[in-house]
Amino acid sequence: MKKMIVLPKGNFDFTTDKIASDKSISHRCAIFSLLSDKPSIIENYLGAEDTMCTLNIVELLGANIEKSDNKITITPPLNIKEPPVILDCGNSGTAIRLLMGYLCSCKGFFVLHGDQYLCSRPMRRVADPLRSIGAHIDGRSDGNYAPLAIRGEKVKAFHYESKIASAQVKSALILAGLQADGISTFVEPELSRDHSERMLRGMGATIVSEGLHISIHPQKAPFSPLHITVPNDPSSGFFFAVAAAICPGSRVVLKNMLLNKTRIEAYKVLARMGAHVEFVETHNVYESVGDIVIQAGELHGVCVEENISWLIDELPALSIAFAYAKGKSIVKNAEELRVKESDRISSVVKNLRLCGIVVDEFKDGYEVMGGIMQRTTINSFGDHRIAMSFAIAGLRSGMEIEDTECINTSFPNFRELLSQIGTIQ
Ligand code: S3P
Repeated sequence: MKKMIVLPKGNFDFTTDKIASDKSISHRCAIFSLLSDKPSIIENYLGAEDTMCTLNIVELLGANIEKSDNKITITPPLNIKEPPVILDCGNSGTAIRLLMGYLCSCKGFFVLHGDQYLCSRPMRRVADPLRSIGAHIDGRSDGNYAPLAIRGEKVKAFHYESKIASAQVKSALILAGLQADGISTFVEPELSRDHSERMLRGMGATIVSEGLHISIHPQKAPFSPLHITVPNDPSSGFFFAVAAAICPGSRVVLKNMLLNKTRIEAYKVLARMGAHVEFVETHNVYESVGDIVIQAGELHGVCVEENISWLIDELPALSIAFAYAKGKSIVKNAEELRVKESDRISSVVKNLRLCGIVVDEFKDGYEVMGGIMQRTTINSFGDHRIAMSFAIAGLRSGMEIEDTECINTSFPNFRELLSQIGTIQ
């Protein structure tokens, strides 16, 4: 498996508008374009393995896809086609869960599949509420694991109170609610990323959010198409934010970033730790977009226990900043980390320990004593965010990361950008 060695190259002042396009928004663009009867035009769609899988699925469902330069035109079919093959979601929880919500009420038979990691992630959180409104979904382990077989059925309106703050669960249920036989309501315990509500409203859906309550009105007429330039992904950009924060005398400017408040919380934690962070909004299309400037500062430990769903994807990278901070940092209420692309509590704890950092593991988080990371060989556990987080640590300490192909699932040009501020072998 492909190994990456990252070595320090001194401090840096790095400006880029080449951070990978937003993954959450790209998946949604592909899937939501099926709701319209007109072509959607998507610029800056993420060309990573996961989002290309989703685009391929949309094509198998009957859409016509044309690509030119940085633009994709998705012309939806009149009616969803029953595909003759399985639908491969790759490594993507977002794709498989949103597609469950959409396909469960489409006429036909569909099999959703994924890689070995996706096939061991829980699907019951979406399948159970969908089954309770009439969806026919089956899978391994009593319907909890992919491959999942779906036979489309008319679904009933629902009132569902989710115990987890998950945008994937919320989005799946919103997609089902749009096809239901009456007005549905969904309640989440804490606001999770809200791209689905924003984009679908922009397409003409009636989705009313009042605090954590969302009502979803079924839509008979087709939706307006999407016309969007996908902003750059703050979760991918965050690796470079941590790079600036841990390398004294360094600065990074990230251009054209998505600034949705449910996505930039980790940058705010970095600021609380002592880094200098500035957000500059430049425009707003469905979402706030702008630049983020991050400058090194003296880092000290923090406690992270609130708004966890707003920084869940950034916790592995944030842990590298914890390792370089003065004092103790604590993560609590983050049990969801255990069911991501890897068990990220275990992956972070094991790897930090290999680097000589003192870490305590809890069921719902971990505690890191700041120190100096040592160069060693770490395992990515097939998880793109673990691989990239420890590659960033290499800018300070040198690091060897095994099994780095997974980086292509979300950030194909990560290595190229990293090579501008560090030495890569
Ligand atoms: C995502 C939601 C989050 C996040 C994932 C992308 C999305 O997952 O971790 O990377 O696009 O909706 P959960 O909704 O399961 O928390």
